[in-house]
Amino acid sequence: MSLHTLAAPRAPRAAFGKIVLNEARLAWRQPAGIVVSIGLSLLLLVIFGSIPVFQQTSSRLGGLSAFEVYIPILISFSIGVLALAYLPGPLVSYREQGILRRLSTTPVPAFWVLAAQFVVQACLMLIAVFLLIGVSVAGYGAIAPRNPGGLVLALVLSIAALFAIGLSIAAAARTSGAARAIMALAFYPLMFFSGLYVPDADPAARVREHQPLHPARRDRAGDPGLDARPVPPGAAAAGDGGVRDRVRVPGQAFLPMGVTQMDSFTGKLAVVTGGGSGMGRELVRQLAAQGCSVAACDWHPDAVAETAALARADTGSGVLVTSHACDVSDEAQVLRFRDELLGQHARDHVDLVFANAGIGGGNSFVNDTREEWERTFAVDFYGVYYCARAFLPLLIASGDGVLVNTSSVNGLWAALGPGIPATAYGAAKFAVKGFTEALIEDLRSNAPQVRVAVVIPGHVGTDIIPNTLRAHGTGPERMSEAELEGTRDALVGAGVLAEGASAEDARRLLLQGIKDFKDKAPVSAAQAATIILDGVRSGAWRILIGDDARMIDAAVRAKPEASYDYTELFSEVPAP
Ligand SMILES: NC(=O)c1ccc[n+]([C@@H]2O[C@H](COP(=O)([O-])OP(=O)(O)OC[C@H]3O[C@@H](n4cnc5c(N)ncnc54)[C@H](O)[C@@H]3O)[C@@H](O)[C@H]2O)c1
Repeated sequence: MSLHTLAAPRAPRAAFGKIVLNEARLAWRQPAGIVVSIGLSLLLLVIFGSIPVFQQTSSRLGGLSAFEVYIPILISFSIGVLALAYLPGPLVSYREQGILRRLSTTPVPAFWVLAAQFVVQACLMLIAVFLLIGVSVAGYGAIAPRNPGGLVLALVLSIAALFAIGLSIAAAARTSGAARAIMALAFYPLMFFSGLYVPDADPAARVREHQPLHPARRDRAGDPGLDARPVPPGAAAAGDGGVRDRVRVPGQAFLPMGVTQMDSFTGKLAVVTGGGSGMGRELVRQLAAQGCSVAACDWHPDAVAETAALARADTGSGVLVTSHACDVSDEAQVLRFRDELLGQHARDHVDLVFANAGIGGGNSFVNDTREEWERTFAVDFYGVYYCARAFLPLLIASGDGVLVNTSSVNGLWAALGPGIPATAYGAAKFAVKGFTEALIEDLRSNAPQVRVAVVIPGHVGTDIIPNTLRAHGTGPERMSEAELEGTRDALVGAGVLAEGASAEDARRLLLQGIKDFKDKAPVSAAQAATIILDGVRSGAWRILIGDDARMIDAAVRAKPEASYDYTELFSEVPAP
């Protein structure tokens, strides 16, 4: 007997083609899979495409229409039907009928049947995908896929994932009846998470919400618990999506909130308080430039009207920027501002609220007037609180609202340095941070349509010092001789002015300090606004601005008990 006759005979390649053909014929003879996966999904597509309201874009659906959201959902549906409902059935029945055992006595390997099933089902899936995309683009004007590589990758991964589930069912089920039962258990929940029953622009977010330890949450852009980092200048101005990854600090505690990231501000309505100057003005301008309508307020109506005019110069059509007079420390004015803006923008909800207005002052509880102290606290804390009261229902009505409250490094550390207390400002900014953090759990439990973020700026180049002095009815230009003398003595005492300096020297020094605070700051107001908007878009809840903010944050965490022992606090500052 030669070696030749002993070797197992090999099946001719053509046999595989015949098996594929045979499986295709079987699928055709029992067309339920084809009818449901291709026919039903196409029918649903046509129905959804014909409902006018499904063609309207919605901010709740990430600026897409319900019809556009349903296209990938129906693609998943048709792949899921084939992989889960029609793949396991024939395979289990072949096993039940002993076909695979009988095949194993022939030169044709049994796994060819599996491969043939894969080929047939994959072809059906591709036909379904091409038909669904083709009909939605050609028939209903949907946007053609912009990233074909991404589409192919998504299809390959979806098919692989759903096939893996279908094959696992086929392997686990002893009878085709059992396969059907397992399939039903898997299919309907999976379709729910694919968004079939309730259209959703990011159905995976629902899985993440209910599985805080799901790997999908970890270090991902959708993980709203991460801090924001500065962004390279200009990178984010027009909503560069890649920026999101650059504003994340990976590996920190994550924090599931109902609403996560926000891909774009286009078509939304934002409220900005303190829009007349500094970060508020830049927020208004950048939001408007990104297609977001804005209602900005300030207690200086001319300043905020100027901001609105600047913003309008950079916007396209469909963006409305309005300016309003409002003192945020007066609840009645905040409510009037709310009603005024809803009327002017003809909306019943707002999508974003930036409670940004603020002033300094009330530094010394011992020496400064009670009036100045309480004025500062009222603007900085009650301004934020009244806005939350007035606008929260409107943010809830938005469906994916974001409340952004501005605190400060003085919300982490209640001093401005040796000899410079910050009692009113520090108390208010700690309160803003505490209030905002407390809202996280409240909103997550009771209003998951809204998330909050707290902004913690370090030194940002703005006119906050002259604006603060003006708010308290003072300033270098307005100081009386007696006030200037007192200031000169204080500056000489602090070693900032030489002995023998005049009151006029003190005034010049103050004016120079105000100018330098704005011009020599490490971060400009425009850069700060970009960081805030990137942080909000990325889903961060804690937005630190500047290396100084990160340094103070790190220092007071590392040595909480040395927080007010400045030499010790900053002696070995850990790298931010
Ligand atoms: N600039 C910084 O270095 C810095 C640092 C930390 C925190 N912050 C905070 O950032 C926010 C913005 O400050 P900025 O630096 O852009 O200051 P800014 O003075 O340039 O702008 C603040 C705006 O708020 C307005 N405003 C003040 N009180 C108001 C009130 N009661 N009602 C309505 N409008 C009011 C002012 O008129 C001004 O237009 C403030 O909350 C401030 O405390 C600033």
